[in-house]
Amino acid sequence: MKTSSQISPNLNLLEWFHKHKRDLPFRIKPTAYKIWVSEVMLQQTRVAAMLPLYDQFLLRFPNMESLAQAEEEEVLEFWSGLGYYSRARNLRKACNYVISNYNGKFPESLEEAMDIPGVGPYTARAVLSMAYGKSYAVLDGNVKRVVSRLFAESDERKWQTLADQFLNKENPGDHNQAMMELGALVCLPNPICENCPIQSACKASLTNTISKYPPSKKDKEKLDIEIHFYIIQKNQKILLLKDKNRRFFKDIYSLPYTILPKDDETKLGTAYLTPGYLKELLEDLKTTAIPGTTKHSITHHRISVYLHQATKEFSDKNHILPGAEIIWTDWERLPKDFPSSIAKKVLKFPGVGGLFST
Ligand code: ADE
Repeated sequence: MKTSSQISPNLNLLEWFHKHKRDLPFRIKPTAYKIWVSEVMLQQTRVAAMLPLYDQFLLRFPNMESLAQAEEEEVLEFWSGLGYYSRARNLRKACNYVISNYNGKFPESLEEAMDIPGVGPYTARAVLSMAYGKSYAVLDGNVKRVVSRLFAESDERKWQTLADQFLNKENPGDHNQAMMELGALVCLPNPICENCPIQSACKASLTNTISKYPPSKKDKEKLDIEIHFYIIQKNQKILLLKDKNRRFFKDIYSLPYTILPKDDETKLGTAYLTPGYLKELLEDLKTTAIPGTTKHSITHHRISVYLHQATKEFSDKNHILPGAEIIWTDWERLPKDFPSSIAKKVLKFPGVGGLFST
């Protein structure tokens, strides 16, 4: 026979929450504004420490209008003790934004909520689920730990989807708070599994692998990839490009590059794929490998680096590279214009010597 927890662990979770939840002021007659303020405060402070300040703050600024109209200085006074004063400044400005753009009503769509200055995915999801019952699961530090263990999943890119799937769509606000509360009271770094209402559904607990989840920074899996850089020239100048949609070097110029997984099994996300403009260009110019290779590491990636050279010059008909910004540099200035330690390594490849001697 199935126990109720096997049928729907998230109902057990809600039951547990209603029994054990703390009577927090932002849980009483919640409004979007009250929840918003509490969530901003809780991003930097523990519940117990923020409560007295929260009450004072809400007494003085009971709604968006009162906060928006107050002098910044006074808002900061009421924030003192919480630190991170930029959050208070942003909150006041954001209230003005909501008043101007939405008549003072916190918007109901995730996109619009995330367009409010200072409101990121966590805050937007928290406010929309708790104030309006919208089906968005939140993922803060505590919830990440719960989700990682519940699904025995070490890949953090999958946690949001799993949290959304686990969400109780009948009561997303309470569900989210229950997940946070569970992480804060039971599913601690050293968890008290015998007190957990969803233990019988917890994959990590069932397989006795709690200590593996969530993975520590040290044992986070690294992705093995190859980066292939290309030297493409025109009139002895070297092409560098910048593209904010790519996986690496979003904000700096680099030699054009393509990425390959180290083994056929690995599936890379779209940001790793070669953009169309570069694919066409490389097909057009043809390339040959330059002897040399090196290892490099960028957060969560173990990278083997290779270098190639175009066999033809870049010509006018290749000029349009939509989606990329380009500049032309020369050999001496390359490390400055492509300011990454990977550039310095590539330039030391044995095959590079002589490429640019005039
Ligand atoms: N941490 C941040 N917001 C919270 C909430 N609403 N309930 C419990 N813990 C929280």
